[in-house]
Amino acid sequence: MRIPEQKIDEIRLNTNIVDVVSNYMQLKKRGRNYVGLCPFHNEKTPSFSVSDDKQIYYCFGCHNGGNVFKFLMEYKRISFVEAVQELARELGIIIEAEDQYEDSIKSETEILYDLNVEVARYFSDNLLNEKIGENAKKYFESRNIKLATMRAFGLGYANFGRESLTEFFKTKKLDLEKGIYLGLLLKSESGIKDRFNGRIMFPIFSPNGRVIAFAGRILEDKADTAKYVNSPESKIYYKGKILYGLSHAKDEIRKNDIALLVEGYMDLISLHQNGIKNVVAISGTALTDDQVLLLSRYTKNVVLFFDSDSAGVNASMRSIDILLKRDMNIKVASLPNGEDPDTFIQKFGKKEFEEEIQNAQNFLEYQTEIYSRKGFFNDPIKTVEAIRELVKPISLIADELKRSVLIKSLAEKFSLREKLIELELEKVFAVNKKEENVAEKFRVKSEAKEQNVEERILKEIKVEKELIKLLLEGEEKVSKLILEKIKPEEFQLTIHQEITSVIEKLLDEEKDVSPSVVIDQIQNIKTQQYILEITFDKYRISDEWESLKPSEGISILIKSAKDAIKKFKGQKIDFELKNNLEKLKTISDEETKIDLMRRNSELTKKKKEIETEIL
Ligand code: GTP
Ligand code: MN
Repeated sequence: MRIPEQKIDEIRLNTNIVDVVSNYMQLKKRGRNYVGLCPFHNEKTPSFSVSDDKQIYYCFGCHNGGNVFKFLMEYKRISFVEAVQELARELGIIIEAEDQYEDSIKSETEILYDLNVEVARYFSDNLLNEKIGENAKKYFESRNIKLATMRAFGLGYANFGRESLTEFFKTKKLDLEKGIYLGLLLKSESGIKDRFNGRIMFPIFSPNGRVIAFAGRILEDKADTAKYVNSPESKIYYKGKILYGLSHAKDEIRKNDIALLVEGYMDLISLHQNGIKNVVAISGTALTDDQVLLLSRYTKNVVLFFDSDSAGVNASMRSIDILLKRDMNIKVASLPNGEDPDTFIQKFGKKEFEEEIQNAQNFLEYQTEIYSRKGFFNDPIKTVEAIRELVKPISLIADELKRSVLIKSLAEKFSLREKLIELELEKVFAVNKKEENVAEKFRVKSEAKEQNVEERILKEIKVEKELIKLLLEGEEKVSKLILEKIKPEEFQLTIHQEITSVIEKLLDEEKDVSPSVVIDQIQNIKTQQYILEITFDKYRISDEWESLKPSEGISILIKSAKDAIKKFKGQKIDFELKNNLEKLKTISDEETKIDLMRRNSELTKKKKEIETEIL
């Protein structure tokens, strides 16, 4: 079901996040915000803040945050639509499903989804109903995949020959260019061709069940051919942001409050067919932070089912760190050597597989065992080294209670005093903090470099951040003032361009520009996080502003915005001036020299104007 945009706006406008959150936990007023103990991780001192004027919440401990819809989604583990419906019920607002009339103004992405669906149907038809698909069907049957499962996962077949899909596009009058863009077709010297050639096809679904990409597997393993070929990334498919099978698994994951994480498509499908449905697959890439963020919307508990070879162990170790950073509870299952979830469940059945889930070790036991297997504990010096390594992942956990339980168990295991481990943990914390600072600096620098600007641009970025922070105050007057003077493309950082474009669009449509609205318009999880961090940043616009009432504060905001705009414009001119002066030193061509000098006097004049301009 899709809820009309205006309804969502109406509900958001009539709800106060402070009231809603207060229904579930205790909040205390502190400054302009409300704080409390975070409901999403254990803590003794509150790092969970709710902003009344911005209508968003954020936890500095576990980085959970968003608007009122997000809070309900997270707290009750419900979907966006369910959260909207729940608030609507309380407000007595009636929601009617959006009509189909919007078909004529389909968005670009909508068209891409539809194209993928057509193609998925075509592949599936090849497999299930056509003679050419017989071998592929036999292959699936040889792996005990039932017809119903093929249908449920939309499995299909792409013919040999590289012409069939192209032909299908032509007869159906589908957009060839879009087919090429989605990586279904290829442009070659001899014309357009199919990209997938003689492969069984797995549609990849978004969490809402839309077809966003395909993976194609060869029928017989050959050394010189890639086993799987995937669609390239596109507007609707970001590899590191999807989990295969999530749309099929999400209800079961919520219901059981636990997810199994496997490596392969076939593992997932096979488990599903055998009645284990709370599974997602990372499918070939290393687990990413975005994937964990996505999964954490459904559950905080995962069991890893990776291969037991050394690649699998390394993948588990890396995944554990990434999962811990998002405060997930992790267990690791170890299947017998040579088995993967697919082969295991086929050989031993559901009951035995469930035993394996039961027997999964917590991550610390698992890691201890790995070090033990590598012989670390036969030697006192190496034992110390191993303990140091084991402390590192514990340092990633935000939850104080969890940390202390793990410290206890580590201490008991090695008959050490807890204090000793705590000291070690302190050291790791100090290192982490340093690394974080370096990483942040590096991130800004590398993005600045990417855009081919020099390090002094860092100064400009600081002003940019100030402007973004002002924009995220959600005051229409202030936002208008800034975006009338500065266009999104003038910002150096792409993340700032992304945010300002959204705000500009909202202003154009005469909509509310509060961060709680802005955040709903942004798909990119990293950008959402950035918005939260910047709005709840300890850094203030001015001390005065913090202590003022919102009604009095606006004039201060406007003054800050004017100052920041002037600084922003002035710096840009300074930058060009300096560049030109340097060029002047090296250039000998008289005409160019004169041009540059003329430009510089123009710039100097412009700078004066900006300084004296009354905004
Ligand atoms: P089967 O061998 O048919 O059982 O498939 P599987 O899904 O179990 O594959 P495997 O365990 O070999 O690999 C795990 C996952 O890694 C696969 O499901 C793919 O997502 C990914 N993968 C494996 N090989 C390739 C490859 O050659 N290219 C790409 N892009 N991904 C691969
Ligand atoms: Mn397999």
